[in-house]
Amino acid sequence: MPKKGKKVTVIGAGNVGATVAYILAMNGACHHVVLRDRNIEVAKGKALDMSQAANAARMHTIVSVAEEAEGMSGSDVVVITAGSPRLPGMSRDDLLMINAEITKEVVLDVKKYAPDAIIIMVSNPLDVMTYVAQKVSGFPRERIIGMAGILDSARMAHFIHEKIGYGAGQIRASVMGGHGDDMVPLPKFSTVAGVPLSDLLSDDEITEIVERTKHGGAEIVGYLKTGSAYYAPAKSTAIMVEAILKDTKQIHPCAVLLDGEYGYNDVVTGVPLVLGAAGVEKIFAVTLNDEQTVKFSKSVASVTSMIDVLKNKNFFN
Ligand code: NAI
Ligand code: 2OP
Repeated sequence: MPKKGKKVTVIGAGNVGATVAYILAMNGACHHVVLRDRNIEVAKGKALDMSQAANAARMHTIVSVAEEAEGMSGSDVVVITAGSPRLPGMSRDDLLMINAEITKEVVLDVKKYAPDAIIIMVSNPLDVMTYVAQKVSGFPRERIIGMAGILDSARMAHFIHEKIGYGAGQIRASVMGGHGDDMVPLPKFSTVAGVPLSDLLSDDEITEIVERTKHGGAEIVGYLKTGSAYYAPAKSTAIMVEAILKDTKQIHPCAVLLDGEYGYNDVVTGVPLVLGAAGVEKIFAVTLNDEQTVKFSKSVASVTSMIDVLKNKNFFN
């Protein structure tokens, strides 16, 4: 059958995955969204509901369920959110082994049935799961991209707005490094309509924003109790899907396997890069000062230590 339009498969139709699918269906970003989840009945119910919403919105997007992995064939982009959410008291690292096994299982399906797709990883711990996806699939690093930097930067932008009370929609916050407690919010690279943050807030206020950003996910878990954030994570993921499908070539902070950039190899972390039809089309090695370099290296080291846990358990053999 000839391929018609753009197709996106979302593996894991839980809070984040279903919300990504809903955003894509509502803005007509693609022609076909396929949901795949180990809980087929729930995925079917959500697909039906979303398809009806698409009709209400007079959108052309079809939402369906892949009961078998083969249903993802021909996908341009595969979003992976399958896994366990982070629950209260659970660190991102606790999820490591559970989600590594789930990621391996679903990535092997992608490799078999959608070998030309670009994979967007969402499952936590994000940088390590992106690494696992790259190693298991053997896809070029340009086609395995982790979502976190857009989310963490959006959280920082929100906290800046809460402090200053103006500039909504004009705040450009910057976060690099891994999606964990050692992430690197960069106030020196953050502006409000071009005005540097340091001209708007005191050092203490900026420190408060940086700390709150680092724990932005945990703050929401503390309220939700039974799960973690999904609206901002889903929107951030949909932005990446659209950048790829529309070949926007815009710069976004995303996680990618480093190959010499910043002096690191064989580790995934969040850096500014260009997203387009080929996936990661350019990676920027921005100049960091001494303090930023130390924080970035600490963040990379914490990702490396989790990768080492998997290596020591012979996960990649
Ligand atoms: P959720 O529990 O609502 O959804 C996870 C879904 O994955 C469930 O529907 C489950 O049935 C499904 N699933 C589990 N194993 C599967 C398998 N082998 N094949 C197919 N489906 C499978 O969780 P939520 O809130 O959607 O979060 C998903 C993941 O995304 C978690 O790991 C979470 O920590 C992570 N996350 C990452 C963020 C980031 O910034 N990178 C932000 C928010 C969440
Ligand atoms: C978040 O930052 C849990 O990583 C997820 O909300």
